[in-house]
Amino acid sequence: MATRVRWLGHAALWIESDGQTVLIDPFLTGNPTAAAKAGDLAPDFILVSHGHPDHLGDTIAIAKTTGAIVVCNYEMSEWLTRQGVSKVHGQQHGGAHAFVFGRVKFTQAFHGSSLPDGSYGGNPCGFLITFRDGTKVYDAADTGLFGDMRLIGEEGIDLAILPIGDNYTMGPEDSIRAIKLLTPKKVMPIHYNTFDLIAQDADAWARAVRQQTQAQPVVIKPGEWTTV
Ligand code: NI
Ligand code: MN
Repeated sequence: MATRVRWLGHAALWIESDGQTVLIDPFLTGNPTAAAKAGDLAPDFILVSHGHPDHLGDTIAIAKTTGAIVVCNYEMSEWLTRQGVSKVHGQQHGGAHAFVFGRVKFTQAFHGSSLPDGSYGGNPCGFLITFRDGTKVYDAADTGLFGDMRLIGEEGIDLAILPIGDNYTMGPEDSIRAIKLLTPKKVMPIHYNTFDLIAQDADAWARAVRQQTQAQPVVIKPGEWTTV
């Protein structure tokens, strides 16, 4: 079965590949654009890019209810263990690990990562995921533009998932520069239109992607799917 991605709103993503389910940055409770309820999701894995509440989201509740394995940086994995989450897997930038659904490499992200109680959350990350069907998905998560996106692009990305909301992350213009470095086949925008502060015109962004890059823009609404 092809790898497919459902946008759940903001930075939350649901990915199905080879019978496995992966939930990324599950901010659902309190997310005005959430396309699913935390209690309705039973993922095999949860990937968390950093400790901010709009990414950590419902991770603890879902992990405790379902027994999902939480993949995050080492500092957050220790913190989640102290919160009673039993299955955690810690990694750091540049390190990859093979899971049953595929291989996850942690990539750098220029952002912050404090946890809700003020604990140190380690460094924020993005994810380069190579699924068992060979498809590669890069979720930049919350970050500004950085030149080493060129190195990530050298790995051959099928789908890049980039924030375009501006203010807390790169905005539309820098995302175009990121696409030129990453050279993905397809690119999907996230982390916009959740709140007024990060409102963006996704159709204008898609036109700019088509005009200025070789990538195919994939603009979907929260709740919709795309195939990698
Ligand atoms: Ni953040
Ligand atoms: Mn965020």
